[in-house]
Amino acid sequence: MSGPPGAMGPTGDWEQLYATSEVSSLPWYTTALDADIERALQEHDLRGRRILDLGTGPATQAMNLAKRGFDVLATDISPSAIKKAKASAKAAGLSIEFRVDNVLASNLAPNLVDAIVDRGVFHVLPEDKRPAYVRTVHRVLRPNGWLFLKCFSDKEPGTWGPHRIAESELRGYFRGTFEIRSIVETVFYGNVKPPPKALFATFQRGESARPTRPTQNRERKRSTRS
Ligand SMILES: C[S@@+](CC[C@H](N)C(=O)[O-])C[C@H]1O[C@@H](n2cnc3c(N)ncnc32)[C@H](O)[C@@H]1O
Repeated sequence: MSGPPGAMGPTGDWEQLYATSEVSSLPWYTTALDADIERALQEHDLRGRRILDLGTGPATQAMNLAKRGFDVLATDISPSAIKKAKASAKAAGLSIEFRVDNVLASNLAPNLVDAIVDRGVFHVLPEDKRPAYVRTVHRVLRPNGWLFLKCFSDKEPGTWGPHRIAESELRGYFRGTFEIRSIVETVFYGNVKPPPKALFATFQRGESARPTRPTQNRERKRSTRS
């Protein structure tokens, strides 16, 4: 499968892509709420809470969350993505707060949300930018808030599209800043068939505004599935 122009590499020009593409043609597009995200929200009983859909793109995740009664804030680096997402939400009669925001230089306030959903943002960031991402999501989450992150796994063959990330690598970025609750093997549903192999991680911010101490011994590693 070849992706559209601008989405072929992790440094794709997101604004150019969204300005010139029909969002339903993008590789990550799905009308459904990601099953791993839905399960995690239920497991941690986050009903009705304030949620950030980070890098919302077509906003299908944000809209599904709003339909389920969450108070949704949705951001993206691309103004065209946000413009199209606003139109889609309006057409669906859904109330969602949309903002253009770059997670690597974010203007979002501290302690803003109870949970963050990242479906496909972390894995498009260059390695040297990932620590800045971790700092932003930690700051934006309220104490004990949750980060649910889906990224391509290093078990996905090939090189098209986003970075492949190994479980140990993912742990390395978040260890010491978040409690690592689980990382499980899964797939990334969208327009790509078969769906690429992925990881779904559940991280929790501690009580303190400062990063927590290393958590290796307290990690709970769940069995893998795909
Ligand atoms: C693979 S797409 C996933 C879109 C959406 N989360 C979904 O599941 O349909 C990655 C998204 O991240 C956005 N993005 C990339 N870099 C970003 C950044 N630094 N800050 C915020 N959003 C970013 C892109 O514009 C794009 O919409």
